Amino acid sequence: MSENLIIFNARIVTPIGFTARRGAEMSQLRIIENGTVEVTDGIITYVGENRGESRDGYYQNYWHYNARGHCVLPGFVDSHTHFVFGGERSEEFSWRLKGESYMSIMQRGGGIASTVKATRALNFLKLRSAAEGFLKKMSAMGVTTVEGKSGYGLDRDTELLQLKVMRSLNNSEHKRVDIVSTFLGAHALPEEYKGRGDEYIDFLIDEMLPLIRKDDLAECCDVFCEKGVFSVEQSRRLLSAAKEEGFLLKLHADEIVSFGGAELAAELGALSADHLLQASDAGIRAMAEAGVVATLLPLTAFALKEPYARGREMIDAGCAVALATDLNPGSCFSGSIPLTIALACIYMNLSIEETITALTLNGAAALNRAHRIGSIEVGKQGDFVVLNSDNYHVLPYYIGMNSVAMTIKEGVLYPVN
Ligand code: NIG
Ligand code: FE
Repeated sequence: MSENLIIFNARIVTPIGFTARRGAEMSQLRIIENGTVEVTDGIITYVGENRGESRDGYYQNYWHYNARGHCVLPGFVDSHTHFVFGGERSEEFSWRLKGESYMSIMQRGGGIASTVKATRALNFLKLRSAAEGFLKKMSAMGVTTVEGKSGYGLDRDTELLQLKVMRSLNNSEHKRVDIVSTFLGAHALPEEYKGRGDEYIDFLIDEMLPLIRKDDLAECCDVFCEKGVFSVEQSRRLLSAAKEEGFLLKLHADEIVSFGGAELAAELGALSADHLLQASDAGIRAMAEAGVVATLLPLTAFALKEPYARGREMIDAGCAVALATDLNPGSCFSGSIPLTIALACIYMNLSIEETITALTLNGAAALNRAHRIGSIEVGKQGDFVVLNSDNYHVLPYYIGMNSVAMTIKEGVLYPVN
């Protein structure tokens, strides 16, 4: 669904351009006081100074919305989530509070394997309705595009089911959030393949990649490249095959230990390397040189009580940094955009301007969408966030609280109450 819309009297705040912003470019925002944005059939057709509109309402074929000086930003892009899953893992959370580690729970058969069990037990409709609930919450925090991963099936049918749920939600008439799907069959080794990691990778390469490609069920392929999960060599083999099949590449990289994931992302020309809590200096340099988006997920570090990724150093080294939530039932059961923003500013020492770029244009670049979304430019999709303030500094200041008054998707207004 798309609309014709004119937003006037806005304080327009946006990163600039159609590609990822790297290093010092991340802090350069375009700000237009008393600005107007025009959206025609869902696409931006004018951005600039006010042109004389002064009345709310529908006339001359456009909805007219008086922003009363409030900030209008591009819609937020949450470029790393796992929002399609069954069950929950609150008990595990309590075990972690008592000191058990994420990896030790995984190694004794909990963690991802427990969500796999719960997800395999659900049918299409149940899985879809649980996932749809998350999309509504995301939209209320200003998200207009989200990436979603499979990875809780780890068998042919359930992996396909997760991807089909995302396709169905993405095709729905009244969707508030666009979905970019990622195949994460290499999220963990399923019980059936215990001790046979290489064979599981063969199965993903020989059976799953061609099937998913044939039905166009995912644009990206991801892997949990981590000590005790999938090795660098297994990750390289899978991702190289995926690249040949036409997938764009992502990695869960250097999350728990420094493992060479960032370096591998650079070597393979991945769209993004994600997590990066333990990324090495060489890995950071390699990502900057190769133009790999460094996607940081501070809510996960917070929830796991791990040190935050070195966001400040990455930007200073010339990386394009994106921020995302990592919403998932295990390591981070939160899709909170406000808290992501606060943690990025407080603990990663990103400026508010860099944080805005990370959550919009660079998130878009991490999904190969920087030409279509992520900044307010003529020709891009009419996806916006209207804040409840004329001052964008409220974004990190409202710690964990929402400062979004309205989310606009392809010109359609969705007030947040
Ligand atoms: O991004 N690290 C691997 N995958 C997820 C967690 C998945 C889970 O625990 O269910 C992550 O943190
Ligand atoms: Fe993740």
